[in-house]
Amino acid sequence: MDRTAVAKMGAVASASVCALVAGVVLAQYIFTMKKKTGRKTKIIEMMPEFQKKTVHIKDPEKVEEIICGLIKGGAAKLQIITDFDMTLSRFSYNGKRCPTCHNIIDNSKLITEECRKKFFSFQLLQLKETYYAIEIDPALTIEEKYPYMVEWYNKSHALLIEQGLQKDKFAEIVRESDVMLKEGYENFFDKLSEHNIPVFIFSAGIGDILEEVIHQAGVYHSNVKVVSNFMDFDEHGILKGFKGELIHVYNKHDGALKNTEYFKQLKDNSNIILLGDSQGDLSMADGVANVEHILKIGYLNDKVDELLEKYMDSYDIVLVKDESLEVANSILQKIL
Ligand code: TMP
Ligand code: MG
Repeated sequence: MDRTAVAKMGAVASASVCALVAGVVLAQYIFTMKKKTGRKTKIIEMMPEFQKKTVHIKDPEKVEEIICGLIKGGAAKLQIITDFDMTLSRFSYNGKRCPTCHNIIDNSKLITEECRKKFFSFQLLQLKETYYAIEIDPALTIEEKYPYMVEWYNKSHALLIEQGLQKDKFAEIVRESDVMLKEGYENFFDKLSEHNIPVFIFSAGIGDILEEVIHQAGVYHSNVKVVSNFMDFDEHGILKGFKGELIHVYNKHDGALKNTEYFKQLKDNSNIILLGDSQGDLSMADGVANVEHILKIGYLNDKVDELLEKYMDSYDIVLVKDESLEVANSILQKIL
């Protein structure tokens, strides 16, 4: 064999070895990557509740990391901070809208029959249609919405006060309403109570109605604290105003800071599961001094196409038109 032929053979051989080595390296790389990515989202991949089409997660690895942190911290470090209307309560049932705390009163037959009905409910419904549209308008910023929310609450609460609502009617009003808590609420509240996990319900609804709802549902356990707009009654039990400062959809940040005393007592509960349905709910944990891990779960009920991206950017897990607490319960199952 001449020198050129030997050189040629040598070149071919070394090219083949190179290709082989490169192939092995590539295969190894893909294998490790797969193993790595698999490992990084192993927990949520194995949870059937996370495989549903309603679950949207922008960064699964981050969610996995937070859930790992929550599991590691266990019951001792955990606390729940949650919104009420359309988060713990249902947005709709069988295609029909469910009421918010305010709507429970607006829709009440008891009130409308007794209190110059049509005028009253007409005005409140008008208010709801105008301002609710602003509340969820994807084209407006929170800053732009803010003054309208204050206007909505002021008008709405002034109307309620005008009606001279009676406190002793509230149990009946709630009993006869269409309000429903989300599927799996018993499991959610009972498990949290069993492990004595603090639950902070932070609502821009009406505290007196909210408390009646969870009381009638049998889940107002001693680990639950409600911060909301509470009514003030005269000596005859007639509504005369609202106590404290107004909590509306977009000032929960201020409300959270006013509750730093509560959160100080829970300084060791540095792992948080936050549940909300509005962009305003994202600031509910602003009063917590020591946050180790926080998992933000957001329900997106309305204007899904326009708002999904925004929600995915701000909530870790977005649940689209989900009327259950399944995802939260499945996480609690792992932690507790
Ligand atoms: P949340 O903070 O528990 O979600 O409660 C606030 C909800 O109440 C919010 O979605 C707006 C709604 N709301 C009414 O439905 N009717 C009203 O009159 C007012 C002032 C608020
Ligand atoms: Mg809400």
